[in-house]
Amino acid sequence: MKDELLKKFEEVFGEADKAKVYFAPGRVNLIGEHTDYNGGHVFPCALTIGTYGAARKRDDNILRFYSLNFEEAGVIESSLDDLKPSKEAGWTNYPKGVMWAFKEKGYDVPVGMDLVLYGTIPNGSGLSSSASLEVLTGFILRDFFGTEVTNQELALIGQYSENNYNGCNCGIMDQFAVAMGKKDSAIFLDTSDLSFEYANINLPDAKIVITNSKVKHSLVDSAYNKRRSACEMALSELQTVCDIKGLGDLTCEEFEANKAIIKDDERRVRAKHAVYENQRTIDAVAALKENDIETFGKLMNASHISLRDDYEVSCEEIDILVDLAWTVPGVIGSRITGGGFGGCTVSIVKNESVEDFKRVVTEGYKEKTGNDCEIYVVDIGDGPVIL
Ligand code: GLA
Repeated sequence: MKDELLKKFEEVFGEADKAKVYFAPGRVNLIGEHTDYNGGHVFPCALTIGTYGAARKRDDNILRFYSLNFEEAGVIESSLDDLKPSKEAGWTNYPKGVMWAFKEKGYDVPVGMDLVLYGTIPNGSGLSSSASLEVLTGFILRDFFGTEVTNQELALIGQYSENNYNGCNCGIMDQFAVAMGKKDSAIFLDTSDLSFEYANINLPDAKIVITNSKVKHSLVDSAYNKRRSACEMALSELQTVCDIKGLGDLTCEEFEANKAIIKDDERRVRAKHAVYENQRTIDAVAALKENDIETFGKLMNASHISLRDDYEVSCEEIDILVDLAWTVPGVIGSRITGGGFGGCTVSIVKNESVEDFKRVVTEGYKEKTGNDCEIYVVDIGDGPVIL
């Protein structure tokens, strides 16, 4: 990949000898969905697919971007003096947002850059192509300018840019998983204080399989922000009777005992999801530590049902994929992953059942929706690197 990218860099921007090649992964979340902005737990892992970038420092303020994924857009030129989000800037709003966030946080971005990108994460699939690009940009800036920031801070800067520059009120999970990824491990992160531990995902008999529905419903960001506000409102109602900082501080029993204070039915089920999903995540990681993958799988299935019925972030296509997966013997668990309203499912499938899974899910999906899905058997990879 490195050579191809440098070749492209040379083609687009002239000689490439001062360019360096970087990589940041995508992520998949195994369990703990819509808990990260509620001070709950998540359990994502970085993937070996992600975003590659060949970058060269400039000696002026100009920014020149080129993506192999959007070649028709050509070179998109901008400047460090113009770090404002705009529709025309398209995907470059992500790297520009991170440059803006660096400056907001008081870190110097003295000169611009030429950047050629190539992403191997299918766009809009819910595997965090944007967080990957954000962390990649921060990683490049740190390397260029010697900024004293840890990978964890790069994650926070990425989230800050997404929240304040790109207008999605996302939690910290995606950027954290990308920046802190570790080969063969998932990250058990407590989003209330960012304490975390790596849990080895040693599955000799099974694979992590991602299925891309290839649909993305519109208004995802606004629906996401709405869910978040509902949880925040439910939290403030609960805070009148419980001493808590986030929904993640409540046990399921405490929630049941106090839920009547939440005045609106819809808000109550949204909060219920956040509380129960947090508990499921804690239980799932405990089960994994005991090598009890069956329990882990059942909790994944329960997570899907809750996201479908209570949190209402699934959609017909995703439910079809999960229902099909559940019919395949050898599927340990299957659920929607990521923000929702389309995107991907994640399943844990016994080695000997992977071919059956592919056949049943592909054929069934085509029959029921008329569309093709894509199936990836994935590996868990490291965080960002210089290649
Ligand atoms: C998106 C957001 C994350 C998280 C998930 C849902 O991926 O970026 O912060 O909230 O949705 O778990």
